[in-house]
Amino acid sequence: MAAKCDLSLLEGVLDEYADVKGSLITILQKTQEIYSYVPEDAVYLISERTGVSPAKIMGVATFYSQFRFAPAGKYKIQICKGTACYVNGSERIIDVLTEELGIQSNETTEDGLFSFTVVSCLGCCSLAPAMMINDKAYGNLTGDKIRQIIRGLRKEAEAQ
Ligand code: FES
Repeated sequence: MAAKCDLSLLEGVLDEYADVKGSLITILQKTQEIYSYVPEDAVYLISERTGVSPAKIMGVATFYSQFRFAPAGKYKIQICKGTACYVNGSERIIDVLTEELGIQSNETTEDGLFSFTVVSCLGCCSLAPAMMINDKAYGNLTGDKIRQIIRGLRKEAEAQ
């Protein structure tokens, strides 16, 4: 897990939800909104304030695929496995992405460049299979196309 984070950013969330029964998921979601992931330090603070053990918090957080435990990459990829994308081969596309990046969903590459999340619809089903990288949509993906996009971004980052 990653480095120190500014835990004061989480105070407002904990003031509002720490004593509200059944709000652990909400707290974790808001934590991730603030930091882009769920930092280890935040888990301990949430534990202190809610009385739920860190192990239990991690158990809940890891059960839900929406949570990540390392900072997101410079290029945040959301790849879709919703129905339209699935019938157009998104599984294979996700396999290629996993292979090309060497990480699984919700992980970040060691160089900090890429992270990816599998989502259930990006709202651009006519482009299926589709993905977003930061704010840009990419559609009609194939294995070759996805490799080209990733390699292009790597080069772009190296040139900076
Ligand atoms: S199902 Fe993939 S964008 Fe809607």
